[in-house]
Amino acid sequence: MRFAPAAADVVGFLAMEISFPQHGKPPERADLLPLLRAAGADLDALYARADAVRRAHCGEAVPIRAIVEFSNYCANGCLYCGLRASNAAPHRYRMAPAEILAAARQIAAAGIAGTVVLQAGETPGYSDEDLASVVRRIKTETPALAITLSVGNRPRDVYARWRDAGMDRYLLRFETSAPDLFARLHPDCTLAARLQCLRDLKSLGVQTGSGFMIGLPGETIEILADNILLCREFDFDMIGIGPYVPNPDTPLGDQPNAYAADPDMFFRALAVLRLANPDAHIPATTAFDAVFPNGRDLALQRGANVFMPNATPSPLRKDYQLYPGKPCIDEDATDCARCVQARLHALGRPVAQGPAHSLKRPPTTR
Ligand code: 5AD
Ligand code: FES
Repeated sequence: MRFAPAAADVVGFLAMEISFPQHGKPPERADLLPLLRAAGADLDALYARADAVRRAHCGEAVPIRAIVEFSNYCANGCLYCGLRASNAAPHRYRMAPAEILAAARQIAAAGIAGTVVLQAGETPGYSDEDLASVVRRIKTETPALAITLSVGNRPRDVYARWRDAGMDRYLLRFETSAPDLFARLHPDCTLAARLQCLRDLKSLGVQTGSGFMIGLPGETIEILADNILLCREFDFDMIGIGPYVPNPDTPLGDQPNAYAADPDMFFRALAVLRLANPDAHIPATTAFDAVFPNGRDLALQRGANVFMPNATPSPLRKDYQLYPGKPCIDEDATDCARCVQARLHALGRPVAQGPAHSLKRPPTTR
């Protein structure tokens, strides 16, 4: 009888090739596609491999980054997003600098998260100097907290100014690597401009996070593979990906996720992302909870290593609905902090201490 390797061995071999590129050439689209089609025992092997690569490169401890959604004003009109300017549904809010500071103080006092992530719509109604001043004050008052900003495309000199104020990191997803799909979904921005912002951030020495949505209408499995390869090419410090969730208050509301019939694809994408980016911080994003019961817990077992609880003051949370089914709308920051500890305890994963900077370069000394 001819020797035929078990299917799971083939997946294991491909997975090994991708996570240790020094053993061969860098992965290409064709290398990723079989993994993105894995099923049955192959799929189990893929998840196990992703979890092992995560453990080897990132360890067991889970960095906690608390998100403060400090304004839902946005001037843009991304076709999928609940914050788009023309959506009348959310009540628009803007936290005062003193309120943002109070939230950061609370996060530092709770002692669970090592990072505060300040996220808002693009053009949220603060001047560049307003935000620099908020960053400076948080850095002065709570120097142990790393600070991440996420407010969209900005000129390089603005990023530089925020970095000089104490910003450690920036999050800006490229959303999709397909230029025509990007153009269709973003009336206010091109993929080239978005990628230039990411290059600017990297060149400034800001720890840079990016990522994409999984299953945008019009996405193919080839585009998904290219999204993963683009993350690898940029060598991002952090990569956040999550399922696209149709929002009925947006023009795309009636268009289902491209993988609605195959939700395993969300986790395949995550596992392959980990194999192709062994030492990136990869969060278990909230959108996983929106499409799958305990989705974030599963994500932590299939490649993700970071958890990002919501620390937005609870009355405001219902108005930061990028998509329906976003978790933790009725909880407050204390609930989420407790919930995270319980979730991680159940998974046997300790909370990481300190800011948990990029694994790709020495921590900043600020
Ligand atoms: N479904 C899933 N994710 C979404 N985002 C925005 N709208 C949606 C949606 N309908 C994601 C985008 C953005 C991040 C803040 O939220 O990827 O970068
Ligand atoms: Fe918010 Fe679980 S993380 S309630």
